[in-house]
Amino acid sequence: MVLAGKRVLLVIGGGIAAYKALDLIRRLRERGASVRCILTAGAQAFVTPLAASALSGQRSHTDLFDREDEADIGHIRLARDADIVVVAPATANLMARMAGGHADDLASTVLLATTLPILLAPAMNVRMWQHPATQRNLATLQADGVRVVGPNDGAMAEAETGPGRMAEPLEIADAVRQVLAPTGPLAGRHVLITSGPTHEPIDPVRYIANRSSGKQGHAIARAAAAAGARVTLVSGPVSLPDQAGITTVHVESARDMLAAVEMALPADIGIFAAAVADWRVVHAGAQKMKKDGGALQPLSLTENPDILATIAHRTQGRPELVVGFAAETQNVIANAKAKLARKGCDLIVANDVSAEGGVMGGDMNTVHLVGPTGIETWPTLSKAEVASRLVSAVGALLKSSPS
Ligand code: CTP
Repeated sequence: MVLAGKRVLLVIGGGIAAYKALDLIRRLRERGASVRCILTAGAQAFVTPLAASALSGQRSHTDLFDREDEADIGHIRLARDADIVVVAPATANLMARMAGGHADDLASTVLLATTLPILLAPAMNVRMWQHPATQRNLATLQADGVRVVGPNDGAMAEAETGPGRMAEPLEIADAVRQVLAPTGPLAGRHVLITSGPTHEPIDPVRYIANRSSGKQGHAIARAAAAAGARVTLVSGPVSLPDQAGITTVHVESARDMLAAVEMALPADIGIFAAAVADWRVVHAGAQKMKKDGGALQPLSLTENPDILATIAHRTQGRPELVVGFAAETQNVIANAKAKLARKGCDLIVANDVSAEGGVMGGDMNTVHLVGPTGIETWPTLSKAEVASRLVSAVGALLKSSPS
């Protein structure tokens, strides 16, 4: 009964995935939680308040100005008397209204009035999910501290495939547990991870990039979440899917990545695995560059901010532990030692990224952990194994730190 005594306020939005919310009620109650439901008007087109009440064992709520409700519990008490608010399914419309701070029905009013942790399980058509407006709203909500589980990739009700399917009830129940009763060596810790490459625009169609796949950074995010941490993953453009239970913020350029990292702070641990482009074009053109038969004018480049160094050198709001990576093609250890000192981090994970090693884009990695007191070399391992060992090493360092 991992959720014994925990109270979940479940907001059911109006989408076909609402039927899965009924199963979610069952899953949460199996784990010991009590569940009270709010159904939006849209939700009631798919499931009935009666079904939600029967499964939750508590009366369901639907109206903002319900005479009985306001006399009995009232929307402000609804927003307060729980341990978490879960929105499942979170439709595009509900997310837009939340991001805009609307309070025009019971669900949106409670979501605006609550100071409890909020967990969203988005569900919508793939094009609605990918629409810039939805992605903007998602970024706003995440910046407001809202956690997100899913959506998953797969076949959808409209015979289309892609991201948009609501996370499965078991995944949502696990995400609730991670918020309310985290377990593992990093339980209660917030881990901020950067991953993947950055893209630096040259013009609207061209960019400077590198070969990073994001596999190592994403694996670290999974390992940290498995160790009980709340994880924010700031990811450059990669072709990896978002993971259930991990808040993923998508960015393009180094400057976007720095802004997203600053927005996600405070964190207990920062792990900077991204292969950030060192340079950006000074004046990226608004129009596509055309060839005119002559030579291309050399691009004028300027250095990008160093995200790791910026955060590690902070005197205020610095994570307790800052871990950097060193991607080297020669003098791996010497360069990593120099980076440890220059960037002001506590630990460097150094790896040889020469083409023949196949590390960039591959599934294996050979790393050296370079700390202030010594160097530890690990055998060639899968990136998942490197991630789980690194998370253990970080947990041990936290334990031994004096804080
Ligand atoms: N890093 C960063 N921001 C940058 C450049 C690098 O946060 N603008 C971080 C990387 O995420 C990594 C570490 O700094 O954790 C080292 O990155 P690496 O590419 O190995 O080194 P650089 O600092 O770019 O130095 P150089 O290219 O000279 O090796």
